[in-house]
Amino acid sequence: MNYLLDNNIIIDILSKARNEQYADSVKVFAYLKEHDFNIFISSSALDNIEFILFREIKRKFNFTNKDTLKFAHIAIEKLLNDIKIAKTPSYTEINYDDIEDSQIIASAKAIDAKVITRDEEMLKNYPNQTIHPSTFSLQPSPLKIDFANLKKQYFMYQPELEKEMDKVLNSAHYIMGDAVKELEENLQNFTGAKYAITCSSGTDALLLAMMAIDIQPGDEIITTPFTFIATAETIALLGAKPVFVDIDEKTYNIDSTKIAEKITDKTKAIIPVSLYGQPADLDALEQLKIKHSKLKIIIDGAQSFGATYKGKAEVHYCDIYTTSFFPAKPLGCFGDGGAVLTNNEQLAQKMKMLRVHGQNKRYHHKYIGLGARLDTIQAAILNVKLKHYKEDLSKRQEVAQKYSEALREKEMEMEMEWLEINPSTFILLPSSLNDRTSAWAQYSIRLKGEGRREKVQTKLKEAGLPTAIHYPKPLHLQECFAYLGYKESDFPIAEKVSKEIMSLPMNPYVSDEEIEYLAEKLINL
Ligand SMILES: Cc1ncc(COP(=O)(O)O)c(C=O)c1O
Repeated sequence: MNYLLDNNIIIDILSKARNEQYADSVKVFAYLKEHDFNIFISSSALDNIEFILFREIKRKFNFTNKDTLKFAHIAIEKLLNDIKIAKTPSYTEINYDDIEDSQIIASAKAIDAKVITRDEEMLKNYPNQTIHPSTFSLQPSPLKIDFANLKKQYFMYQPELEKEMDKVLNSAHYIMGDAVKELEENLQNFTGAKYAITCSSGTDALLLAMMAIDIQPGDEIITTPFTFIATAETIALLGAKPVFVDIDEKTYNIDSTKIAEKITDKTKAIIPVSLYGQPADLDALEQLKIKHSKLKIIIDGAQSFGATYKGKAEVHYCDIYTTSFFPAKPLGCFGDGGAVLTNNEQLAQKMKMLRVHGQNKRYHHKYIGLGARLDTIQAAILNVKLKHYKEDLSKRQEVAQKYSEALREKEMEMEMEWLEINPSTFILLPSSLNDRTSAWAQYSIRLKGEGRREKVQTKLKEAGLPTAIHYPKPLHLQECFAYLGYKESDFPIAEKVSKEIMSLPMNPYVSDEEIEYLAEKLINL
């Protein structure tokens, strides 16, 4: 919940003389700060606040006008460390009986905030959008964890985001504007890749990559059955054949020891997926590439942007690395988005053309391509988020570590690698390998026992704790792939894991309190 403070509340807080008389305002403000709420002031209110403060200071101290103003400014500046400015929207519905109130209400509405005020008129005229400090409940509401907490991130970076989005809107360069080129450079700098080409989604990134290596109908591509549908769907869309290989029981990524036996004359590529953000066994894949020189490796890094393998970004271990900027991904935009990264100039040039209908010059088409550009506005958003991304990644890493510690702390006994928490509860924590880092797109645990996961999910949901299943049905058992002729028990590990896996809320802002609460609930189920 966001809150916007009306002028009277701001003055209650800033003016020592009023602190006592309006103790509720002070208490509410302290509560909002302590509980990490987003607190705003309407941009329309600032000059009025300056005026009221000036008057109060002048009355009390009789300073010169210049000094009075200086003190008022110091107070406002200090306040703005805790309070953000909400802009007054162009679509403000002006109430001519009280223009100021209508501006404040409109500013609050635009950010989905309630206004805290002592103004009786405002409380009467806008009962659903206002609250008096004396009726504000200072009892924390029961914990309700947000799975990806995209709202929190939006409000954290809101001023920067608004600025960059406004720039794009004003420029009217909605397609291939400056922000797109900037983002591509930023992605190159972040990963050390020679080329980064943005595109319209992680799915289209996979298509571009496969089209660039000239995948043709009848070609075979080896991949994992335990992934999001897009990995194999795009193979099939190009008329090629997905050839599945079971997963490793620890990392849930493709089991590199089982790939060689599936390589045939028709195999053109291997697509490992960095599931939940953690890279697959990339050394083993490199070895396979040395043995089969025509084989290409495309990493589906939709979940892993920012992950490293032996200290380097994954793009350095493959022909093409693809990623997604879907909003809930570790680096997400406000719609669909993706990118392909490579160190190979030829592939980069081809993908650039493929992204724009295969054209090498306007209206001259060298290849059959796609309309797969990233919108400028999404690029602008990503440029802002990328600035903070290293910090986001380390916060995700911290959250993951704290989850593991909290769950382990509650353990009774270790039985093999299963963590025994109570006689009916077995939880397997995600394993992170020492030679790689994860982007922690998900923190996924396994729950042993027939139907236990579903029961646990229901109970957690009742306690306000969201979970998700990535993924409940492996791809070889999906109806759309029936034509491939796979059957149950073909990939026993993927099948087992899909019945046991469950993801906990994961984002940079999961608090210690939330982790503790979740661990406690999980243990006591
Ligand atoms: C492993 C994997 N591949 C591909 C995709 C597709 O990305 P997008 O949704 O951006 O098309 C996703 C997205 O969920 C994914 O998780």
